[in-house]
Amino acid sequence: MKAIVFERLGGPEVMEYREFPKPELRAGTVIVKNHVIAINYGDTFFIRGTYLVKPLFPDIPGMEAAGVIEAVAPDVTELKPGMRVAYIGMGSYAEYTRIGASRVMVLPEEMSFEQGAAFPIAVLTAWHMLHTCDDVGAGQSVIVHSAAGGVGIAAVQIAKAAGAQVIGTVSNDAKMELVRRFGADHVINYETQDFAEQALKLTNGRGVDLILDAVGKPTFEKGLKCLAPFGHLIVFGRAGGLPERLSPMALMAKSIKVSGFAVTMIYAFRDIHRRAVDAVFRLAREGRLTIPIGGSFPLAQAALAHRLIESRRSTGKLLLIP
Ligand SMILES: NC(=O)c1ccc[n+]([C@@H]2O[C@H](COP(=O)([O-])OP(=O)(O)OC[C@H]3O[C@@H](n4cnc5c(N)ncnc54)[C@H](OP(=O)(O)O)[C@@H]3O)[C@@H](O)[C@H]2O)c1
Repeated sequence: MKAIVFERLGGPEVMEYREFPKPELRAGTVIVKNHVIAINYGDTFFIRGTYLVKPLFPDIPGMEAAGVIEAVAPDVTELKPGMRVAYIGMGSYAEYTRIGASRVMVLPEEMSFEQGAAFPIAVLTAWHMLHTCDDVGAGQSVIVHSAAGGVGIAAVQIAKAAGAQVIGTVSNDAKMELVRRFGADHVINYETQDFAEQALKLTNGRGVDLILDAVGKPTFEKGLKCLAPFGHLIVFGRAGGLPERLSPMALMAKSIKVSGFAVTMIYAFRDIHRRAVDAVFRLAREGRLTIPIGGSFPLAQAALAHRLIESRRSTGKLLLIP
């Protein structure tokens, strides 16, 4: 089969489009023929060797895709060949991927492979932060950093659907219209404006109840300043570098909390995972959750797509077509 393969750590230049052995079934797995593969910012960490999971050379990048099940191990009873599915799991930049059955989600009939590929990581990450790690609802305010990106634009819509006031941040004016169109009440360019000052103004000095922060160093400390009493800041990435160390004593005065989230641990909690999958597919069916596609590339051009997501100019999800 054709795949993107890399044999040394580095940037987009280490990825090579070439022949690679097709994966074989193992107990508890299925083989998926990938129709559409989605890119995650984490893929850029994976090929650099700085992601949670480390590569085993020669390795294939990629963490999610949508396609059709080609083969099913005898001990997997709930999935059948021919089913349209999406999944979260390593090695998706290829024509075929072997994936653990628990990582597979059956796609609703009406959902395209493009939306199916764009959904799992961005949408489940956003949903769990808003509804598993927190319980956002009407009367609350949320800052979504990098709101035009994959997780960001999902979070804007899910927070809005829950009735919250949503403040999105972006690093350039060109992304502002998209974030407004997808439901944000306010959008701040955090490169040219102090987002903490603006958020305090927008909430009449009270501050925001929840902040979703995967930027890190440039946003973390300012975020603490504009949290409301009992507010909550969730750290789920560090695209802009590691935040400064924080003393727990700094949380006392406003009774605020800081927590972390990684979507990769959620599979160990089947009921919580099921609840999220049902909720996000329901929102999609109701027309309240769609992920904009910021670009679609042939699989062979994965390096080009990585350069785009690293440039900070991409919006929504970038897709690869095998
Ligand atoms: N913990 C988890 O389970 C989990 C799951 C998925 C994603 N994530 C994290 O969530 C973030 C978003 O992921 P995504 O795949 O949806 O990507 P994305 O938001 O579509 O693209 C990355 C965005 O990060 C922002 N960014 C901020 N500082 C940056 C910098 N110094 N260099 C490059 N980009 C920078 C950019 O938006 P602006 O310039 O507009 O801010 C850029 O568009 C990433 O940090 C990722 O690692 C975590």
